[in-house]
Amino acid sequence: MARPVIIDTDCGVDDALAILMALVDPAIEVVGITCVAGNVGLGHVVRNVATVCDAALAPAIPIFRGASRPLLMAPVDAASVHGSDGLGDVGFAPSTRPIEREPAAAALVRLARAHPGATLVPLGPLTNIALALAIEPELPQLLGATVLMGGAVRGTGNAAPAAEFNIYADPEAAALCFARGLNPVVLDWDLTLATPIAWPVWDGLVAGGPLGRHFIGPINTRLRERSLARGGRGINLPDPKAMAIVLDPAVARLEPAALAVDTGWSAARGMTTVDRRWHPAPPNCHVATELDLPRLLALVERTCQAACAFGT
Ligand code: RIB
Ligand code: CA
Repeated sequence: MARPVIIDTDCGVDDALAILMALVDPAIEVVGITCVAGNVGLGHVVRNVATVCDAALAPAIPIFRGASRPLLMAPVDAASVHGSDGLGDVGFAPSTRPIEREPAAAALVRLARAHPGATLVPLGPLTNIALALAIEPELPQLLGATVLMGGAVRGTGNAAPAAEFNIYADPEAAALCFARGLNPVVLDWDLTLATPIAWPVWDGLVAGGPLGRHFIGPINTRLRERSLARGGRGINLPDPKAMAIVLDPAVARLEPAALAVDTGWSAARGMTTVDRRWHPAPPNCHVATELDLPRLLALVERTCQAACAFGT
């Protein structure tokens, strides 16, 4: 029996690989994909999710529109990293897949009820998740687990000096998620940076099969060229590392933690801190502290070797 997974995404290039990793895993059934503005605007995110599903020759997975902006602050984006369309500006033909009319927050609650024990995988700002928790406070009890990419528990920011993008983009939503019993597994930016994949290794992976050659490689070409031009040594893959924990839990070492999100308006806005005092606050999540890179690379390799609608 395949394990049900619900993915919430702001579909940029790393989200795309994470979604593909789940789509090609025979032990996983992706029962729905909800979209949130983040890396790029909501319209691009929705189109990108449909294109990713097309690329992997995926069945008719329901795709839902969610929040087009954060709960409180003005929208931010990461188009400089992911391209203006969020998929490396390759220019894929628009998908003909239908997009559901049901709003993402309502769909998240309905899918959780319909698939008891499902794993929720938030890969972008947590706006949809916060809205779903407001609709159904019992959502954490309906879910089997939540594994999210977000935060920087040692304070290495990317969107701001001390804040990681997914949290920085909607700190209020993130704070609500950590306060309402979601108890997620957290794959953060610090561990992402500690486990880079060298470009020659990446190049070998994407050359290894149709989905790598005709989709995963091309959507990352822009990011690769930008990284090499700056002396970058490899690709970070934050969302795929979170998805790897869902697909192969032994890939990560987890530790319970009491995580807090700064929702103030200082330079620390969006910062995520962990209580490391002798007597810390009760834990509200589990933070991944180590990653088995060979196990992660095996999942990426398998994904790159899968069939692709855009070439053999
Ligand atoms: O900070 C990395 C996160 O922000 C990833 O989820 C990436 O896709 C962007 O959303
Ligand atoms: Ca993302």
